[in-house]
Amino acid sequence: MCGIVGYFGEEDAIKHVMEGLRRLEYRGYDSAGISYHDAKQKDLLVFKETGRLDNLARLLPPDESRVAIGHTRWATHGRVTKANAHPHVSHDGRFIVVHNGIIENHKALAGTYLEDVPRRSATDTEIIADLLGSFVGDGDVLTALRRVLGLLEGSYALLVMDREHPGTIYAAKRKSPLLVGRKGRETIIASDMTALCAVAAEYTALTDGSIVTIDEEGLSLHDHEGELVRPEFVPVDKAYAETDKGVFDHYMLKEIHEQPAVLRRIIDQYCEDEESRIPKDVAAMFQGIERLHILAAGTSMHAGLVGKVLFEKLARIPTEVHIASEFAHHPPLLAEGSLFLLISQSGETADLRSSLEIIKERGFPSLILTNVKTSTLAREADAYLEIFAGPEIAVASTKAYTAQIAVLAVLAHAVGEGGISLRKEVALAAQAIENHLQDRHIYADLVDRHLKKPQAFYIGRGLDHAVAREAALKLKEISYIHTEGFAAGELKHGTIALIEDQVPVIAIVTEEKTAAHTRSAIAEVESRGADVVVIAMAHVAEEGDHIIIDTINPLLTPLVSVIPAQLIAYHAALARGKDIDKPRNLAKSVTVE
Ligand code: G6P
Repeated sequence: MCGIVGYFGEEDAIKHVMEGLRRLEYRGYDSAGISYHDAKQKDLLVFKETGRLDNLARLLPPDESRVAIGHTRWATHGRVTKANAHPHVSHDGRFIVVHNGIIENHKALAGTYLEDVPRRSATDTEIIADLLGSFVGDGDVLTALRRVLGLLEGSYALLVMDREHPGTIYAAKRKSPLLVGRKGRETIIASDMTALCAVAAEYTALTDGSIVTIDEEGLSLHDHEGELVRPEFVPVDKAYAETDKGVFDHYMLKEIHEQPAVLRRIIDQYCEDEESRIPKDVAAMFQGIERLHILAAGTSMHAGLVGKVLFEKLARIPTEVHIASEFAHHPPLLAEGSLFLLISQSGETADLRSSLEIIKERGFPSLILTNVKTSTLAREADAYLEIFAGPEIAVASTKAYTAQIAVLAVLAHAVGEGGISLRKEVALAAQAIENHLQDRHIYADLVDRHLKKPQAFYIGRGLDHAVAREAALKLKEISYIHTEGFAAGELKHGTIALIEDQVPVIAIVTEEKTAAHTRSAIAEVESRGADVVVIAMAHVAEEGDHIIIDTINPLLTPLVSVIPAQLIAYHAALARGKDIDKPRNLAKSVTVE
């Protein structure tokens, strides 16, 4: 999703902004732009281009600057064109704006205040620049900016530069994240920690309604009431600075391989021998609750499906799973005694933020499981638990999924009656993943032999069904093979009509109780010509199964059974020559509804 970077300092601002934008590439984008102060021409220059950052880099003259702002755009309003890329310049040429978020009332504002100003782009952002240009008159920029912000409905994180004060950056935010980092006399502003930490030693996360001004004098922060306040800086988490691929060709493959280490980190953090180290206030939230509601999107929602089983089995708490974008607009009947557990790798997903507003309005408690403790949702929910997956760069989520499931298991175990040695069981899962990763070499050939068609199905029952849904998402999002994940028994009630010669059906079989039933579903599709691939756990494996994974605790099987699915997706995308880490149309962190 869109990314913002601004730099003010003694080093080359263009270099730092471009480097920051590169670090944000993983979020997904389709065009990019930069504006900087050119001391020779005594002007603010603007460059933008569609496609990859390299296209923008090629346009840039060999200048250096002390102040610059930049943006990567993921189109929401208007097609992917140069005109729609940021920065946007006001109609009078004075103000230059980059923006993340969505201004919902941009058309109404244009109608009311900018009737005579022709639209030069199809974006909602241009309106911010134009309103500034219209309102500033002979007055000061901060007053005009406050007036504009007061009119905007929706979400924004924005940076503004002004041709009349070319050595100043203004920053403001509502709902979209914006972090200000510094080291000595250098200041860097970014929408994401990953872009900040290459420069900054410490940072502050701006709160909604605040406005920051950065210039020769330093940094001044006004809160939502316009009061000048002292920003509180905290040290930057340097884990986010390490974003190289190491020995791997892609971040996705690196992150797949990190999963055993992540699981071990989680048990070290949350399990002291057999004692849980879940914070007491978090465990207390579960006392006496009647129902748990899990809310999430995408892969995190699929982890939530596993979480439901864990909470019902380990803690005897009735649990429902909701798709955040549905809950935000159609919340179900909610009874007293409900607790809300949000799951979000990024902690920024807009659908979850809207859901959280409803939860708070109705007075229910909320807990978020997130990978980013500095995220907006971690701040806005009543409490948070970190999943300790480390930065996940590939758009297709892998290690965050298994980390979420492991933390859900630890949590369900902590608030339930215990009964199993979770530390040992998760450690065995980590070992099983490690063992399976040794077999990675089988996948190129397996994909070549079985994934020839443009469609595929994953099937499974119980937890295997939950994994089938995640497995299908993984395969479709990076290889573009149309894949669906089905309950093995449901396929015959309609979807079996799509099975014809050579259509791949990948069956996940880990559950003893239902293994025979899933084998029947396999026989049904095989007799209609399907090309079946079986992923089986050792204790239920049969002669001829294609992928065998080690047997682990029946409640934790998704931690291991998802690994073959991640590798199948990776190798299918590789064989098709797709952009594995940055699949088309997708964003890592979806900050708009
Ligand atoms: C995007 C990503 C998915 C992710 C989903 C939810 O769509 O591409 O990989 O699962 O958002 O993100 P979250 O950060 O809330 O887990």
